[in-house]
Formats: sequence, structure tokens, C-alpha cells
Amino acid sequence: MDRWSLRQSFQDDPQRFSRYSLELPGLLLDYSKNRIDDAVLAQLLVLATQVDLAGQIRRMFAAEPINVTEGRPAFHVALRGSGQLPLRINGQDILPEVRQIRWRMRELVTAVHERRWLGYGDTPITDVVNIGIGGSDLGPRMVVEALADPRASVRTHFLANVDGQAVERVLANLNPRATLFIINSKSFSTLETFTNAATCREWLRAEGIPEEALTSRHFVAVSANIKAVAAFGIPEANRFPIWDWVGGRYSLWSATGLVIPLALGMDCFEQLLAGAAMMDEHFLNAPLAANMPVLLGLIGLWYVDFWGAQSHAVLPYDERLEKLPAWLQQLDMESNGKRVRLDGQFVDYDTGPIIWGSAGTNGQHAFFQLLHQGTRLVPIDFIGCVRPGHKRLDHHHKLLGNFLAQSKALMLGRNESETRQHLQTQGLAGAALEAMLPHQIFPGNQPSNSLLVEELTPRTLGMLLALYEHKVFVQGAIWGINSFDQWGVELGKRMALGLIDELNDKPAIATHDASTQGLLDYCHRWSRPN
Ligand code: F6P
Repeated sequence: MDRWSLRQSFQDDPQRFSRYSLELPGLLLDYSKNRIDDAVLAQLLVLATQVDLAGQIRRMFAAEPINVTEGRPAFHVALRGSGQLPLRINGQDILPEVRQIRWRMRELVTAVHERRWLGYGDTPITDVVNIGIGGSDLGPRMVVEALADPRASVRTHFLANVDGQAVERVLANLNPRATLFIINSKSFSTLETFTNAATCREWLRAEGIPEEALTSRHFVAVSANIKAVAAFGIPEANRFPIWDWVGGRYSLWSATGLVIPLALGMDCFEQLLAGAAMMDEHFLNAPLAANMPVLLGLIGLWYVDFWGAQSHAVLPYDERLEKLPAWLQQLDMESNGKRVRLDGQFVDYDTGPIIWGSAGTNGQHAFFQLLHQGTRLVPIDFIGCVRPGHKRLDHHHKLLGNFLAQSKALMLGRNESETRQHLQTQGLAGAALEAMLPHQIFPGNQPSNSLLVEELTPRTLGMLLALYEHKVFVQGAIWGINSFDQWGVELGKRMALGLIDELNDKPAIATHDASTQGLLDYCHRWSRPN
């Protein structure tokens, strides 16, 4: 397909949009601006069939232990309560426990909102701080920002980085008596979260809040490690379990997402789950050729493995979705950034691409130059919402106009004769025109998907997020890797422990390469001003 032209394919087939788009309630995927035709799609579907993608999907929905290196299911879909699913793990019905935790979340949220949950001195809670990192931060943060309600009765804050600046910034404007902290950590052993939680506890102590009130009124914890939560001093009533069958980056649907209903209300949270459940049912039941996550997954894989694309850009043309690329980075790169197959063999093909992006239109004035005229192939997902969350239609039409224009320009490009004409209308001629000509040609043929959301609501957001979760699953299934472990994050974490000790002037327990030792020496030298 080296010389295959997207522009030409649209000229040849006026039905291309209707043939290569798929609508679900409130969500449209237009995949017509891709370097695909029926033959390519058919071949990609053969690939999906060869790896028994449909069977692999069913196995995930049947709670089979598909996360083989950790010996557990990846059953986050159970949290969305799709009526079609039997919610059993090893024969045990998990629905009662899932419901019970949801009910406890509702109780807590209502108590805070109705000012029955009071801080020390019977002070109503006005601020909630989610202390967590990675999956215990990015998903909840992104949803809260996307659906932010200016009338919310509590303000929400997110504390992730171990950098002391982060905790200082968050605490600077808080009233300790009116603040509730959520310690959000599946493992309850994550250095950043543990350190931030301990610092917040010290802050409350220093502000004169006695121990009993401090843990019972100002902290709740979400974790799968209930022992460690107890050891931190969090009373039983304030502990929210999550389960080992929910991966961190897939956990916003569990109590990990507690800050979402605190910010937006429990009904909103449940609509988010309902939207995800709609996508789950579609993913489970639609034929592969008309299955949105399957199509997105196959088309993405087409560029990675057959065109050598190294990255994939996600460009939400909606300020509310600004944090979506960051959430997607963890979802996709921590899931599919793997080089060992389930059978223990090394892959001899590329797996997960580098995911990056930012909210449009900002990127147009920063990195779009490379997309239009650079040397790399960067497949893109454009995401736009038709109905705005505000009344400034002049802004919104400028935003949407740019959303439509960019995917069009990237696809069409501007060829030599069109550029020549354009330069002539600019008054250029002769040698000056010829010199300028190559600089102003746009090669086009740059592929993109467009995801059009009718209106950004909790339901459509839930659909969108589940769509991406399942896209990642599809690709991992075809690559034959385990999308649900993350051993690659361990080595650096472990090495950090020794280096932290050395920075604290404890004796070294490991020798270092010259670079690490040199840097460490500088840290020691420069940390002690003359
Ligand atoms: O270090 C990576 C990671 O384990 C992610 O997978 C996870 O989302 C994040 O850290 C936070 O982990 P936890 O919720 O256990 O604190």
C-alpha cells in the first residue's frame, strides 16, 4: 500500500464515510481517514480470528485468570454491573460484596454532602484530598476534571507526586478541620502515597487535631491491603476494600474512584458505570467487524506492526478532557509496553506504541508542525464533543471547526500544483516561488480516527473510557502479551530505596556505575551549602 492515497480513496468512494464509521448511542467513530480498505480490514479481522479474539474477550468477561503472571482475573468489567454478566470468580458470587461497597460509598458521600460527616470540632467537610498515584490518581482525577460541577459542595484536590512541593501546594490553602483525606493505594505500599499520607497526618497533628478524631474523621483509605491500612491507624468503618482482580489502571470504577462521587455525586458515578457497561455489552456481543474497540485496536495495530509507527497521538478537542491523554498513557503503555509473550518467548514484532497528546487547539500551536510536515507517521485519535458544556457558541464553533479542519488537512495535504496556485495568489512568482514551493507542500495521507461525542455526560464519558480499555485489551490479545501485569515498574522502585538511604547518609548497600555515583556525589556536595 506504499503509494495508496487517502485522498484518492475518498474520491473513488463517496460512501467511504458511511462504510467506515460506527455509531453507538451518543458516540460516533469515524475511521474512514485511515490507510485501510476492505481487503486490509478483512486481513486484520483474519488476524483477530487466528488469535481467537472473540474467545479471549469471553474469557475476560468470564473472570478467567487471564492475568497469568499474577494468577488472577482482570475483572474490572464486573464493577460496571452490566446485567448480562454472571459475576462469579471461582464459582463465588462477587455481586453482594461489590454492591455492599457501592452502598458504603453512597453512605459516605451523602454524609459528607449533607454535612453529617464532620471534621474535628464538628466542622463540615469542605475539601477532599485524594492521595494516590498512577491508577489511584489519573483516572479519578481525569473524570473529576472532565465532569466538574461548579455547584459542588466540596472542593477536590489531588496529591500524587512525592515532591514536597506538591504536598505543600495542596495543604497551603486547606483548613485542617474541614479536610478529608482519601489514602488511595491498592498495595498500600507505594512510596509516594505512603509518604504523602504520613505528611498529611503530621500536618493534622501539628494543627492540633487529636489522634482519635484525626483517623476517624479526617482519613478514609481505599486499598486491597487491609492489614497495612489498619497498621496506619485507619478505623474499620473508614476502610474501603478493592480486590486483586481489579488492576490499578482499571480501578476508577471501584472505591478507588471514591473522590468522583464526592466531587460530582453518586448518581453521576453510577451513570459513568452505566456508560461503561454499555460499551462492555457492545464489546462482548457485537460482531468483530462492527465492534468499536476491536476496530480501534486493529487499526492501531496496523500502523504499529505494518507501517512502523512508533507513537499514537490522542487529541481531545475539549478542555474538559485535558487529562485524558495522561490517563491513557498509563492505561496503554503500562498494559502493552511489553516484549515477552504469554508463552515466555520474546516478541519479534512491535507492541504498544508511545501514547501522547494534549487538548486541542493548543497542540496546533506547538507540535502540529511535525504532524503536517515531519518525517514520521503518527496516527491520531481526534476527540470532539458536539454540544458544549457552556453557552459560548462562538468559542465552541471555533473549537469544532479546528477539530474538523485538522483531520481534513492532515488527510488531504496540499500537493504541488495546489501549493503553486496558493503561492501565486500570495503574489509569488519565478525563482522566489520555486524556492518557497517545497516548504509549503503538505504531504497529507496522515491517518486519524475521529471520535465524536454528542454531549460529554457521565454516561458518554464512561463509554469512551471503556472503549479505550477494551482497545488496549484487543491489541494485547493479538500481540499475545499479558496486558494486566506491570513488572517493568519494579526495578527502578527497588533501586530507589537504596539510593534514598544513601541520600539520607546511610551506608551504601550496592555499588554504582560511575554515572550514578558521580551524580550521587554531586547531590551530597551540593546539598550542603558552603
Ligand atoms: O508503579 C506502578 C503502579 O503499581 C501502578 O500500576 C499503580 O496504578 C500505581 O503504581 C499505584 O499503585 P497503588 O495503588 O498500589 O499505590
